[in-house]
Amino acid sequence: MRTDVVRLGRLSGARTNEMMHFLSSMQADRWIADADLLVDIAHVLMLDRQKIIDREITGQLLPALLGLFDNGIPEEVFDERFEDVHAGIESLIIEAAGAEAGGRMHMGRSRNDEVATCIRIRLREEILLRMEEILQVRNVLVTLAHEHAATIMPGFTHLQYAQPTTLAHHLLAYDQAFSRDFDRLRDAYARVNISPLGAAAFASTGYPIDREYTASLLGFDGLATNTMDAVATRDFALETLADLSILMTNTSRLCEELIIWSTSFAKFVTLDDAFCSTSSIMPQKKNPDTAEIMRAKTGSVFGAFAGAMMIVKGLPLSYNRDLQELTPNIWRGMQDAGSSLRLLEGMLSGAKFETERMNNEAGKGFSTATELADTLVRSYGIPFRTAHNIVGRAVQKGSLTLKTLEAAAKEVGGGISLKSRGLTQKEIDHALDVNYSVSIRNATGGPSPAATKKAVLACRKKQKEDAALVNSRAKNLEKAKNNLIAKARRRVA
Ligand code: ARG
Repeated sequence: MRTDVVRLGRLSGARTNEMMHFLSSMQADRWIADADLLVDIAHVLMLDRQKIIDREITGQLLPALLGLFDNGIPEEVFDERFEDVHAGIESLIIEAAGAEAGGRMHMGRSRNDEVATCIRIRLREEILLRMEEILQVRNVLVTLAHEHAATIMPGFTHLQYAQPTTLAHHLLAYDQAFSRDFDRLRDAYARVNISPLGAAAFASTGYPIDREYTASLLGFDGLATNTMDAVATRDFALETLADLSILMTNTSRLCEELIIWSTSFAKFVTLDDAFCSTSSIMPQKKNPDTAEIMRAKTGSVFGAFAGAMMIVKGLPLSYNRDLQELTPNIWRGMQDAGSSLRLLEGMLSGAKFETERMNNEAGKGFSTATELADTLVRSYGIPFRTAHNIVGRAVQKGSLTLKTLEAAAKEVGGGISLKSRGLTQKEIDHALDVNYSVSIRNATGGPSPAATKKAVLACRKKQKEDAALVNSRAKNLEKAKNNLIAKARRRVA
């Protein structure tokens, strides 16, 4: 049986399986196992370069580490007796390289800076993946918007028909939301991608280490400078989870709309069967379960965020083991957000929008009454509040005709006669036309097809820039990793 390298000296007393399981982070550490190897390799290269370890020691440590890198980390590393993956890998290296060499790998560092470094390495990759997935969703939204620039539908406030708009306008609203979600993760990345390595337990070390060197080997953009902060902070994770929570809120609102739009009373959208479930008793049912689960995952992600916040809030500096319990929340949030985004993309691109039905509904519920009031203002010099009053009263009478408007004007008082001012039924019908109402809403960001055309172009431009940023960051990480491994191989060649 392999020994627990950490507990060897100080402690005695047998531990039950339950105790070891309770204390171990091994299951969640599967997320950071590969990152831990890279951290080990960078650390050894630095110790070697600073002459903290001899060349022969490096010559034994690096092949052992590269062996794990090339062949994969064996399952035995994940034995919960080791508390965590850092101890598991170190034990294996001591066995592979011998105690004389293997026992020197952990010089000048602690699991406290090690784990913080590993989390940041994995987290930055996950952030880039989510950014990429957000881009995919935005791409579908803008493609659909381009297609539906002239697809008229009812726009809602308070879930009541309010004014006609276009499907494109509605979809582009979500593009804006997801674009901000992208920006938030982009900004969080800058605070995630800094290196805590070299902080050791919290007070750094007396060995002449080079923190900048390990940071650059590992593809970090800088240092978490203060070594106490470096091991104690998890605010980079809290920030990311907050961003994921907001992202999921936007996802959830879109899901809610797809659920409402697919009801038998709305019938605005038909979802692809693949994203729906049926009932075990009611053979006719088609339920939007994917959207529902996604709506619920929003709660799970928010729970991961809230859990992480609760764990950190009362912790004195610097490291406390409580922090171990926070880490799985990061991965849970990432996993749920990731699968939600990937499925959302498919659900959206497979959705069939019932454009005829949308168009037919768009004028219902006096949805163009605002435009009629505006016409009274524009063409007949009536103050908006008076026009609003007149049209409102006519709605109460049940129709918007010259007759009801004239009667309403009389009730409002002030001696206004719309007829004598020249209002005609033709003009009323024109003002009430949904196409006219939409086309005249031509302000920047409005629903008119002309404004939509510009909006689509602007969205596409930002998407392109955003994609370039993700690509360049991902390339930098890939390059750093390749350089690190190449350097390690050269050192032992
Ligand atoms: N598994 C630990 C974690 O996830 C690593 C750090 C352990 N440090 C310690 N002082 N016990 O936080």
